[in-house]
Amino acid sequence: MTKAKRMMQENMKLIDLIIELVDARVPIASRNPDIDELGKGKSRIVLLNKSDLADERCNKAWMQYFEGKGIFALEVNSKAGAGIKAINSLVQKACAEKIARDRKRGIVNRPVRAMVVGIPNVGKSTFINAFAGRACTKTGNKPGVTKGKQWIRLNKNLELLDTPGILWPKFEDNLVGMHLAFIGSMNDEIIVMEELACDLLEILRELYPEAVADRYGIFWRDEAGGAHSMAAMLEGIARCRRCFLKGENLDLKKASDLLLDDFRSGRLGRLTLERPEELQTSEQKKI
Ligand code: G4P
Repeated sequence: MTKAKRMMQENMKLIDLIIELVDARVPIASRNPDIDELGKGKSRIVLLNKSDLADERCNKAWMQYFEGKGIFALEVNSKAGAGIKAINSLVQKACAEKIARDRKRGIVNRPVRAMVVGIPNVGKSTFINAFAGRACTKTGNKPGVTKGKQWIRLNKNLELLDTPGILWPKFEDNLVGMHLAFIGSMNDEIIVMEELACDLLEILRELYPEAVADRYGIFWRDEAGGAHSMAAMLEGIARCRRCFLKGENLDLKKASDLLLDDFRSGRLGRLTLERPEELQTSEQKKI
């Protein structure tokens, strides 16, 4: 077991609720199935973060999907703080059983303790800052609780562990690895960017063909109606954005970086690359 996983297991003993952040553009690839095992018996909330970068219709579809599985879910934009206010009432709903159990035992007003988890770059620190805001006070070490843990008291009903749990993405499935590379959750230095750009173009051709045409003024078909290859499309982007090496040679690496950067920052529009209805059986196992 990795050190991070062991630490997460230790922290699990201290909490009632897991707030799991996923990237709304790829809600399946950005989950780690280990969390189901690690979080057994805990209340769970899934937050579709970066929902501002994802397709609104797909956000709704994913919300329905998670809710249909009995998982409390919410769309958020941690960067702008959108959706954050609604979390408190969702926490009460997600922890209703625990609160009722406490009450039966005569324990009243014990705050719910929560931990934020997610893969790198999904927005955990941004979320904690937005959720905890400035009003929060760090409660410091609690007697009887593992030394060194810092809790942020958000209100009388909720305390948050101040360090998020980092889950490592699962790269075993090629498609999952590719989707994670698109959103920048993999180290770009180990990726052949031209290949990744062509993979992204292929998916965009299928899901959002107009996004590429609108941004770069290039078309998927030539004048005779024949389909361009993805390499030809990348060349089109390089030409349109004047990505040249010495002389007239096209700088396809630069064009690839540009395309990926445009996708990651939302300049290609609000795009979601995974759809609930397309879930493969193997991916379904993760939920
Ligand atoms: P992590 O702790 O999970 O590793 O992620 P972190 O909060 O560092 O966020 C990673 C990047 O995602 C940051 O961008 C952050 O601003 C951005 N981000 C987080 N939540 C949202 C969201 O809901 N919407 C959008 N659009 N972006 C979000 P960065 O480029 O690394 O930093 P910065 O230039 O924004 O400061």
